[in-house]
Amino acid sequence: MSTTPTPSPAHLADLVVFGGTGDLSMRKLLPALYHSDRDGRLAPETRVIALSRGGLTDADFRGKVDAEVRDSVPIDDLAVWERFLGRLHHVSVDVGGENRSGWGTLAGMLAEYEQRDRVFYLASPPRTFGPFCREVHEAGLVTPRSRVVLEKPLGQDLSSARRINDEVGAIFDERQIFRIDHYLGKETVQNLLVLRFANAFLEPIWNSLWIDHVQITAAETVGTPGRRGYYDHAGALRDMVQNHLLQLLTLTAMEPPARNDREAIRDEKVKVLQALRPITGGEVDRFTVRGQYTGAGDMPGYLDEPGSTPPTEASGRVETFTAIRAEVKNWRWAGVPFYLRTGKRMPYRRSEIVVQFKDVPHSIFPGGAPNRLVLRLQPEEGIELHIMAKEPGAGEVTLKPVPMSLSFGKTFTARVPEAYERLLTDVLAGNPTLFMRRDEVEAAWRWIDPILDAWKAGDALPEPYPAGTTGPAGAHELLGRSGRAWHEEEL
Ligand code: BG6
Repeated sequence: MSTTPTPSPAHLADLVVFGGTGDLSMRKLLPALYHSDRDGRLAPETRVIALSRGGLTDADFRGKVDAEVRDSVPIDDLAVWERFLGRLHHVSVDVGGENRSGWGTLAGMLAEYEQRDRVFYLASPPRTFGPFCREVHEAGLVTPRSRVVLEKPLGQDLSSARRINDEVGAIFDERQIFRIDHYLGKETVQNLLVLRFANAFLEPIWNSLWIDHVQITAAETVGTPGRRGYYDHAGALRDMVQNHLLQLLTLTAMEPPARNDREAIRDEKVKVLQALRPITGGEVDRFTVRGQYTGAGDMPGYLDEPGSTPPTEASGRVETFTAIRAEVKNWRWAGVPFYLRTGKRMPYRRSEIVVQFKDVPHSIFPGGAPNRLVLRLQPEEGIELHIMAKEPGAGEVTLKPVPMSLSFGKTFTARVPEAYERLLTDVLAGNPTLFMRRDEVEAAWRWIDPILDAWKAGDALPEPYPAGTTGPAGAHELLGRSGRAWHEEEL
């Protein structure tokens, strides 16, 4: 589990963000850093140095952040905001280009505080990871106390992921490489570990004897406006399943680690990925579903979304929805399906893990339903155990499933930090527990690759589903053929 230690001089770091004026930086990183600053989790001297081609001065960059970010964060403390702006700097660098002067400027700035840790955050496309690391090394900026943070997607498939890992690994040791999956920074995800490993009652029933199946859903209402250039070559499988959903699966399925420590936890997660039964060849059609949203009401279809580039043949083939029936082949989980599902333009935004228990072996009441544990990541983070209860009243016993709920928002008064806040705090403190190790990322791709290959080899296009619905018919058949149903259908 992550600890988020109070900053001490040991954690004093300069944060250098490559792609520092881009979308991720403006929408996620800078707001998260502001909140960390406000909550006292940034050392007073920590600087945030944005790198881009933009030719901005510090004042230009601060003005841009003030204009673009200020509205997206509740600025309840103007003094903190001003102090935060004061931490920001900008240096123009041209990675892969001729002009090297930016590296000299950055070197000069970092040399002012040689004893600080250096964190290079690559909020840029993966093709830039290798060149950036080479150039930052050639500029003499990589110290033993430097770290590099890689944003997803880490490659397009196993071989490109390996290439990136090799390129970055040629400059940084594995202990210095922090691969981000922001789902691991979400409160419920960490609570899942606490729920499983700090409470005794679940462990005896957390297996195939008691659990019928598990559903992991990440449903979004948003479409992909402006993202076609990226999304056409990503699709839901690479964008959400290879990383976020598989991470949730590993945490649900992993064995109890011997220690709460970075390697012990990650060792157990890798074992789950290695135990995933490969889905290959003809099985891909049976165990996976692809969908693409079409226009409905005032919502455009995927092909009509305003995008940075016009639709191409790749656009017609890309999936904006996918559902998969996975299996973890080990003693604990043999025979328990793990259904994964994610989609854009669904009717609700909801990410959750649903653990569906088996029914009672012999029912003496009519109308019962099996117990279900729901771990909700969003919109409202919490845990619900659905148990059967008797409806009050005389006469016949009537059963009703009722939730025993724990809402984090209602139970704990402290503000729940955004995923990026926690992850940035951990990066600055040098704690890699919530980051993906090389073998994890590669094991995930090893399982994904045959699915991608089979999709590519076939002629079939994704099944259409109208925007605002719960995905194509195939997704419902995937569960329906074994008499199961997705969670929302019974709510
Ligand atoms: C990102 C994906 O990793 O996660 C996006 O690239 C997706 O396509 C986003 O919208 C979802 O994150 P969250 O935290 O809103 O569930």
